[in-house]
Amino acid sequence: MMRDLVIVGAGGFGRETVDTVRAINRGKPTWRILGVIDDSPSPANLNRLAALDLPHLGGLAALPPRSAVALCIGAPADRSRLAQRLEPDVELPSLIHPSTQIGSLFRHGHGLITLAGTSIGTNVRVGDHVHLNAHAVIGHDVHLSDFVSVNPNATVSGECAIGTQVLVGAGSTVLQGLTVGRGSTVGAAACVTHDVPATRTVKGVPAR
Ligand SMILES: CC(C)(COP(=O)(O)OP(=O)(O)OC[C@H]1O[C@@H](n2cnc3c(N)ncnc32)[C@H](O)[C@@H]1OP(=O)(O)O)[C@@H](O)C(=O)NCCC(=O)NCCS
Repeated sequence: MMRDLVIVGAGGFGRETVDTVRAINRGKPTWRILGVIDDSPSPANLNRLAALDLPHLGGLAALPPRSAVALCIGAPADRSRLAQRLEPDVELPSLIHPSTQIGSLFRHGHGLITLAGTSIGTNVRVGDHVHLNAHAVIGHDVHLSDFVSVNPNATVSGECAIGTQVLVGAGSTVLQGLTVGRGSTVGAAACVTHDVPATRTVKGVPAR
């Protein structure tokens, strides 16, 4: 039986998640997407939703009862705040694109969303509400804490530990065995060669 699902966030990640859900449904009909919740979608995003045949249901107050929710807010801190408002009353399932390569001993919390082409190595541990964008690469023995976002084409190398609410920017690389502290941001295309303390933004090659 298909279950009702609401996408929260009309932006890019929300609509990319629609593709993940539709890919899941092609393998096994699982989710009926009721529409998208967003407090203030831009006119451009409203048109993009219409092109996908998805209604804008309104703001958070319009969340239909008993539907599961895909939390598709890209910014980790905003996603964390929203999760606190929704949990524990709302189910936040994990949505894993069928093209995701998953290694052995993979463990993850709820609300994990992966887009097409993500690659996850062996013995990876992932917390709650983690977003892995298209073609993100997560190396062996990595730990991603709650609310981490790994943007497209970024690589988190083996044995790294990535703290809560860290954003790993598009096309960046975190070298093996490093720690990125909670709330930090790795800039797009950066190469991280040293541990990053909490709440820092680092960018460039090598990242500073
Ligand atoms: C690094 C980052 C967090 C900085 O954001 P910010 O603090 O708002 O920085 P600004 O845009 O004000 O830019 C400040 C300076 O840093 C430079 N800069 C910005 N991003 C950079 C990056 N990724 N690498 C190198 N330099 C960068 C800007 O050119 C600017 O330089 P200037 O002062 O000489 O003009 C952000 O640019 C970034 O890379 N975020 C990752 C986002 C991402 O992955 N996007 C893809 C989504 S799919």
